Amino acid sequence: MSDLQPFEAVPNPLIAQPDFKVPAEMDAAIDELISHYPKKRSATLMLLHAIQERYGFISEEAVNWVAKKLELQPINVLEVATFYPMFKHRPVGRWHLKVCRTLSCALAGSYQIHQGYCKKFGLDPHAHGAQTSKDGQVTVEFVECLAACGSAPVLMCNETLHENVSEAKANEIVGGCK
Ligand code: FES
Repeated sequence: MSDLQPFEAVPNPLIAQPDFKVPAEMDAAIDELISHYPKKRSATLMLLHAIQERYGFISEEAVNWVAKKLELQPINVLEVATFYPMFKHRPVGRWHLKVCRTLSCALAGSYQIHQGYCKKFGLDPHAHGAQTSKDGQVTVEFVECLAACGSAPVLMCNETLHENVSEAKANEIVGGCK
């Protein structure tokens, strides 16, 4: 008898966004952007950034739209969108707090910071993945190394990196979130 186990289906990392529509002016701007590249495919990252900037995340419909625009298969776009951690695949709050949990930051207190944020925003400190507060304003997420290990603990609030974050500084950072 074979030892092979049945193949387990990998869940789709993308969520649906049935109302996804690209307005005419954005479509035109994207066509212009693509024209700067010798091959359409080379514009994949830029298009994903543009989509995320406008819609906040990359949905299944967005991947299909980018693929059609660049004359690619959706899998070609999906592999780029899921390789880079800066792309989000579900909506996040207005404030996205990413707390590093890799060794240097963990030893320097990042778990306490994460726990403090979860308590403050009514989230489960033991849950995996990003969690968003009930009012949809704040998303808290544990992430892997943010490449600033020398100044642990480190976190990001949206696109801003904060280093040497004490619990008091962590509270200051979220001071403007509410
Ligand atoms: S371990 Fe936290 S930034 Fe590298």
